[in-house]
Amino acid sequence: MHQEIIARFNSLKEKQLSIDITRGKPDTNQLDLSNKLLDLSIPLVSENGIDLRNYGEPFGIIEARRLGSELLNAPFENVIAGEQSSLLLTYQTILSNYLFAEPLAWKSLKKPKFICPVPGFDRHFKLLEDFGIEAVPISLIEDGVDIQQFEEIINNGDDYLGILCVPRHSNPSGTTYSDENIKKMFEIGSNFSNKFLFLFDHAYLIHDFLPTIKQTPLWEIAESSKVQDQTVITTSFSKVTFGGGGISFLASSGEYLELLKKIRSTMIICPDKLNQMRHVEFFKDLKTIKSHMNEHANLIKPKFELAYSVLEKLPDECGTFSKPTGGYFIAFSTSKPIASKVVSLCEEIGVLITPAGSTFPNGNDPNNSIIRIAPTFVSEKELTDAMEAFITCVELAHFDISI
Ligand SMILES: Cc1ncc(COP(=O)(O)O)c(C=O)c1O
Repeated sequence: MHQEIIARFNSLKEKQLSIDITRGKPDTNQLDLSNKLLDLSIPLVSENGIDLRNYGEPFGIIEARRLGSELLNAPFENVIAGEQSSLLLTYQTILSNYLFAEPLAWKSLKKPKFICPVPGFDRHFKLLEDFGIEAVPISLIEDGVDIQQFEEIINNGDDYLGILCVPRHSNPSGTTYSDENIKKMFEIGSNFSNKFLFLFDHAYLIHDFLPTIKQTPLWEIAESSKVQDQTVITTSFSKVTFGGGGISFLASSGEYLELLKKIRSTMIICPDKLNQMRHVEFFKDLKTIKSHMNEHANLIKPKFELAYSVLEKLPDECGTFSKPTGGYFIAFSTSKPIASKVVSLCEEIGVLITPAGSTFPNGNDPNNSIIRIAPTFVSEKELTDAMEAFITCVELAHFDISI
């Protein structure tokens, strides 16, 4: 058996592959779905008479905010339509509190901490690190965060400022939180403090490619749990139209919203209103957005199915993998502490995978086990090679075979 695995490794190496499955990016054919945006002619004045070519509307044009309000199921006045990046809105939310939170700015706290579900998004950890905020890991279980752990963590420390999580098709395990899980999180967090921030990165809000469990809109749950003043929800069109070329949206209320508006008013005079109007004209309403997302799903789904079918060839003892119904990633979990070995073996074959550990704060996966796979950006041919290389490397590392 070992000889066969070594032979596979060598023949893959001979192919001199150069395949990058590190980041969850849309493939070209997905980007093509939005090409009409490139030469769409649009009105130059918004319905309230604002000239889109000039300064004005710091929180977005009303037409775009209305679209955001439909997307996030939040009242119009609670929604901002920003620049092209939701991560920027998340950053600004943290920054505004770091500088100006009342009664004490976060920069004055001795050991500020945020709870972060793991495996999670590397950029979230880096973002918190920029502010000297410790990212305290909490396990993700099937239907969201491990509530018992959440309660234990929060009751054992003072300086917990909030939780930063991806509640639908999380990056990278694809976990979708149940309503029950979110309600429990709201209950425990708000009992701990009426300032505890529920910061939801809803990057994959409309990115299902297979039937997904029903999730009540977060804003609705936040309102019924009376925590809307402690809730911030962000999303964007980065994986709807163009990566880094869409519109970002944020819904919040109370002081968190006011602080964000305050800091944004210093930072930027207004977002790109022409791009906002282009998107409004392109989509018109939520129904069109959803049918556009079906077209994405039709392109993405076969790639995930292909990845699953190759991963299924691995002997069970080697590990397990998540089978998301949406989003952009698969999380593979090795049963032995060999993730870094697998990633470096893949690199030897010419297949680049996100560094092991990067889905944990400080790059520290205590079990050296989680590997993120991003199947969307490459062609199906490349993906087949990459996945064959991946399983071969998992087997080599798992059975400790020397090459
Ligand atoms: C969880 C998550 N949030 C945010 C982003 C980036 O979003 P944006 O382009 O809107 O900043 C990504 C991109 O991969 C992501 O996976």
